Amino acid sequence: MSDHKVYPVSAEWAASAWADEAKYNEMYAESVNNPDKFWGEQARATIDWIKPFHQVKNTSFEPGNVSIKWFEDGTLNVAANCLDRHLATRGDQTAIIWEGDDPSSDEHISYRDLYERVGKFANALKAQGVKKGDVATLYMPMIPEAAVAMLACARIGAVHSIVFGGFSPDALGVRVEESGSSIIITSDEGRRGGRRVPLKKNVDAAIAGMDNPASVKSVVVVKCTGGDVAWDTDRDHWYHELVAGQSVDCPAEEMGAEDPLFILYTSGSTGKPKGLEHTTGGYIVYAAMTHKYVFDYKDGDVYWCTADVGWVTGHSYIVYGPLANGGTTVMFEGVPTYPDASRFGRVIEKHKVNQFYTAPTAIRALMQKGDDVLGDSDLSSLKLLGSVGEPINPEAWNWYNDIMGKGECPVVDTWWQTETGGIMIVPLPGATAAKPGSASRPFFGVQPALVDNEGNLIEGSGDGNLVILDGWPAIARSCWGDPARYEETYFSTFKGMYFTGDGARRDDDGYYWITGRVDDVINVSGHRMGTAEVESSLVAHAAVAEAAVVGYPHAIKGQGIYVYVTLQAGVEATDELRKALVGHVRTDIGPIASPDLIQWAPGLPKTRSGKIMRRILRKIAANEHDQLGDTSTLADPAVVDDLVANRMNR
Ligand code: WT7
Repeated sequence: MSDHKVYPVSAEWAASAWADEAKYNEMYAESVNNPDKFWGEQARATIDWIKPFHQVKNTSFEPGNVSIKWFEDGTLNVAANCLDRHLATRGDQTAIIWEGDDPSSDEHISYRDLYERVGKFANALKAQGVKKGDVATLYMPMIPEAAVAMLACARIGAVHSIVFGGFSPDALGVRVEESGSSIIITSDEGRRGGRRVPLKKNVDAAIAGMDNPASVKSVVVVKCTGGDVAWDTDRDHWYHELVAGQSVDCPAEEMGAEDPLFILYTSGSTGKPKGLEHTTGGYIVYAAMTHKYVFDYKDGDVYWCTADVGWVTGHSYIVYGPLANGGTTVMFEGVPTYPDASRFGRVIEKHKVNQFYTAPTAIRALMQKGDDVLGDSDLSSLKLLGSVGEPINPEAWNWYNDIMGKGECPVVDTWWQTETGGIMIVPLPGATAAKPGSASRPFFGVQPALVDNEGNLIEGSGDGNLVILDGWPAIARSCWGDPARYEETYFSTFKGMYFTGDGARRDDDGYYWITGRVDDVINVSGHRMGTAEVESSLVAHAAVAEAAVVGYPHAIKGQGIYVYVTLQAGVEATDELRKALVGHVRTDIGPIASPDLIQWAPGLPKTRSGKIMRRILRKIAANEHDQLGDTSTLADPAVVDDLVANRMNR
């Protein structure tokens, strides 16, 4: 694919960026040839340690002996690195620019102010009995208190587990139970696109639905909209009442580098969501360093990542990376299309944003509305554009580059995952020529490789399963409470390697092109969804006998959710039932899991041993039924003809 258009690094960028090509090559070589020296130096330069580490890298991907430790004998505190150490030099500098859903509401929060808010809330958490090692669930809108709560947990050594505010009560309840969390921090309601999200009500329902509701001892509620909420006087507390009268001084807990910082649940190809555990030292070193090099973040820049703190992108690139670097980070409560589709442009102009980081699905949604969608907004502050969450198709890349970047901003396509903690494959803006659609080259310390289905390494250009051969500081350490599942999921498919679940192609220049998931995970608007989760929700509905879920190409979302449903005998297939099933999944999991298309399937294509042949279902959903491949193992080939004849038009 070297015939693709290449956007070389400009001379100005090569001269001014933290790394040009020569520097990248030199640092990359050192990072993989001499990781102890490289990461030791980086970790000392980037982060303040309480007790210095002596041991740098200590990792093994060997089956039966997977063990990942970085800087293990060092101690530090992440909140102190994000706040305290900046007070002397930048106490009055804005740490967070909060931009409300309502365009007339915003707030600038200085490092000193943030430090004080975190100190008070950290003391309030302690007063609630929260101790080092306890898990606190956050179910929050995008308001400053979300960042305050994260940092307050980090300050006292509590482990936060953020559940995206778009998840249903059931999904929340499962995550609270699985994490063993006895405290939930939420708000009365959230605001999104002019609507209100009943967060406290969802929390009440989540707790009521748990096997042991009494395990949740305390619910802390931020007053956000002032909307009505039900109240349990023994359990519920207003945030503002808890922090009133608390001291701003809260000593930062001395944490071991390998103590957990947070857990974050994500979908896998099977069963229930996994709580990926991230630890303290390696994570913060890597988050800070990637934020600096990938976005070429310089003192005084205003940086905006449009993600939600409910996803890993919000953890690493709204809160931890930017604040560890003493940066100014924009936190946006709203959506790209409210009050109208010019919103991104308006916010960029209003806050003079220099680096902008969003998802292809948002770019495609804007692109569809025409080249003047951003109105007359002044975008001249922009220096760099980033993309994350799914492959960015070249059309969207070009639009981003031409219309938002006016052809003058490097576009950095960042490939990574909840599990990786930080950006893994990316063209550094001063170092790597960009090819639209390719995440290009590995970040420092990252050793990607391609293997065939038998696990043989593919040399040179080719297609295969994307694996990572050796450890980097921010890789997840475990699945919370289930280390065996961690090893099984990521290190058993290809022995001795971390398996990403993605497929990729490597071109003649060594650039990586991510082709998408090769497992039963789909990526809807940059949100990861296990098809098994949607299927189990559907079969729990009384009308459904069997369901199979696959992704299909969707112009805005990247992938849409295509569902094949076999109804129970005697149930009539109606449009009302279709709507009811969509509503059922929305309530059960959350709006992000809503099926886009439901096809009634009298039967599903199965092998003689009864296994559903998803490959065939994917082809039909993608309108590629002329390429069904080998169907000789089907138990009943007629099933496929029916599905093809009745496929849903998009
Ligand atoms: C999956 C991880 C990393 C934060 C957001 C998603 C896909 C992510 C890219 C990209 C192609 C991408 C992969 C990956 N993905 N970024 N730049 N190009 N694909 O985190 O929910 O853990 O999902 O998102 O398929 O495995 P996540």
